[in-house]
This record gives sequence, structure tokens and C-alpha cells, in this order.
Amino acid sequence: MVNRAESPIGLRVTLSRRYVRSTDVARDLTDPRALDGYVVTASARSALERLVDGLDAGSTQRAFRITGPYGSGKSSFALLLCRLLTAVDERANEIAKASGLAKGTAFAPHAVIFMSGRRTSFSGDLLAAVREQARMLGMDDIAAGAAKAGTDEDPGLRARSAIDLLDRLSRDTISADGRRTLLLVDEMGRYVEHAAANPRSEDPSVFQQLAERAGGRGGAPLAVIGVLHHRLAEYVAAMGGVIEAEWTRSADRYEEIAFGDSLEQTLHLVAGALEADPSHTRPVRDAARRLFEEAFQHGTLGGDPADVAAIAADLYPLHPAALATLTVAARRLGQNERSIFGFLQTLEPSGFQRFVQKM
Ligand SMILES: Nc1ncnc2c1ncn2[C@@H]1O[C@H](COP(=O)(O)OP(=O)(O)OP(=O)(O)O)[C@@H](O)[C@H]1O
Ligand SMILES: [Mg+2]
Repeated sequence: MVNRAESPIGLRVTLSRRYVRSTDVARDLTDPRALDGYVVTASARSALERLVDGLDAGSTQRAFRITGPYGSGKSSFALLLCRLLTAVDERANEIAKASGLAKGTAFAPHAVIFMSGRRTSFSGDLLAAVREQARMLGMDDIAAGAAKAGTDEDPGLRARSAIDLLDRLSRDTISADGRRTLLLVDEMGRYVEHAAANPRSEDPSVFQQLAERAGGRGGAPLAVIGVLHHRLAEYVAAMGGVIEAEWTRSADRYEEIAFGDSLEQTLHLVAGALEADPSHTRPVRDAARRLFEEAFQHGTLGGDPADVAAIAADLYPLHPAALATLTVAARRLGQNERSIFGFLQTLEPSGFQRFVQKM
């Protein structure tokens, strides 16, 4: 029997706002608070370091794919990156600084064209995105060219036009205002799936052509980042034949930035998500630290004990055994961080919210 406490934990420990909804880059780009509570995980830090060099004007390889399992934080990272590249964004710069990068502004300013993958023609959507961006920048010729190319019946021609127009757009942008161009495609896998299933209406080599243009010999001031689930390669492999060969060739042109899902990363995310107000008392902090130290001694948790001891109090009231179990279950049966935050938010009978309201 659990006694209802007079002052339940739920009154003092709440979940930070950002975890209450999942990341939609297009929507969150204009929300100044969307990065509140963002935690720079080990994956995010190494991805930022890699991209500071990779997006540099001197780099000859500027096509990347960010891959990682469902819910591992890829879109949230894409949002941070967009904010770092496009605007003078205090919050994004603070986050980059805290991550150990000398300065958020180590990135050259970029005009970002963002696309969110759908099961439709990539070339068609790319032409629409180029047209929109050209219109915004007052480049009417390019906008008109993109509108015309969009009506082209031949998928090979449409793909080539899309990439040529993107190339022109990037050159005109740098001449007009000094910004380089980044094409960022979240859920790029959906476009690849569509191309794989519809070889007559989409030229599957479009992904390869795009990667070759970014950082290629032509010198367009262009970079491309695709965000994908790593399961995609397996999906395309099942299509066999030409598609499989095409995608393997294309995939090789994109340098991989892997988003991991270590236990330590999850603990940091959960610690960042739980907010204590007022802060925990000394006895609670000491007890939490002791519990996590014991968990390391018993082998319940792996990783760096000192690192986890530093955030032990922020994990209260979660027991180390609960966290270890939760992480494995979310990985094996669910969608990683998304399932963990689902558990933290839910009011279901065995969910975290129900627990903290009772205790
Ligand atoms: N570094 C982080 N800091 C704060 N919150 C994070 C971080 N990484 C992930 N999250 C949270 O975890 C959830 C899943 O993240 P996100 O949507 O970015 O994952 P994803 O890899 O894009 O998932 P999917 O593959 O399903 O598109 C979101 O609620 C997000 O707010
Ligand atoms: Mg996502």
C-alpha cells in the first residue's frame, strides 16, 4: 500500500516543457523557446565538431547523413544546427559554447533550405523548396525556372534541373549576401523509399548527384545533410537490383554521422528533463549519490561513475535499477528516448506522473 504523501514529489519535480512534445523542425524553427532544455549529448557534441570542419568553405566533402534509431534526438539536433547556422541565436550559441565548442559562431553563416521528407518525389519537392527560397530572396529567374522544371515529365531531366537550380541559387546567394547554402532534409528516408518504389517517376540517382554537387569540383557554396533512420539501408536492400546498387553508391557519397544511444546519454537527457523546484535537500542529494554509487558496484549501470554521480540528484526520484530497466526496454521494445519521455509524461497507472503524484 502506498500512502498518499502530504507533499507529493510531483509538486516539486516536473518535466521540462521541451520533452512534452516531439521535435518538428519546421514548426520549431520559429519558436524561440524550442531549444529550452536541450542537452548536448556525446553524439551531439561530436556531430557539431565534425560539422564545424565539414561545412567549412575549404571542405571538399559537404554531404552528410545523420543516422540513428527512432527517437534518438536526430531532429532535435537538426533544429539546433539550423539555429546555429542561420541566425544570431543566443540560446543556440550558449548551447554550443557549453558543449565545449570554442564558439557557436565557429560556423560560417548559412541560408538553410529545410525539407521534411514525404513519400513523394524528392526532385519535385526540391524544386518547390528552391522556388520558395528563390522567391524569398527575390531571385525571380530561378523561381520561374523551378516552376517550369516542376512540370517536366522526364524524371531524369527534373532531377538534373533541381540540382542545377539549387547550385545556381547557392551561387547567387553567396554573391548577394555572403551566405553559403545548406539543404537540410529531415526524414530523408521517406524520399528514398518513394524513389525505390517508383523508379519510373523518380530518378534514383538524384541523391548521388546532389551529394556530388555539395563540395564537389564545381565549387558551389553548397552543403547537404540528410537525416535518416539507419534501418533504411536494410529496407532498400530488400528492393534488390538497380535500386539497391544506386542507393549503396549514393549512401557512400554521404559521410555518416551516427547518433548513438548509450545509457550515459539517456541518463543525461533524463537528468536534463526533470526539474526540481525547490532544489533537492542535502539528504536527498546524498542518498541519490549513494544509490548510484552502489549501482555501479553491483554492475547495474555501466559507464563513468563520476559522470553519473554528478547528475545523480537530478535523476531523483528514479532508482538506478528503474533507469537501467527503462533504457533497455525502450531500446528493445520502443523508440529510445521518445519512449522514455513517453513514460515520464504518462498518467497511466504505472507511469511516472502517477507515481510522483502519489508519493
Ligand atoms: N539532446 C536532447 N536534448 C533534449 N531533448 C532531446 C534531446 N534529444 C532528444 N530529445 C527529446 O527526445 C524526443 C525525441 O527526439 P527527436 O524527435 O529529436 O528524435 P529523432 O531521432 O528525430 O526521432 P525520429 O527518428 O522518430 O524522427 C523529443 O521529445 C526530444 O525533445
Ligand atoms: Mg525526427
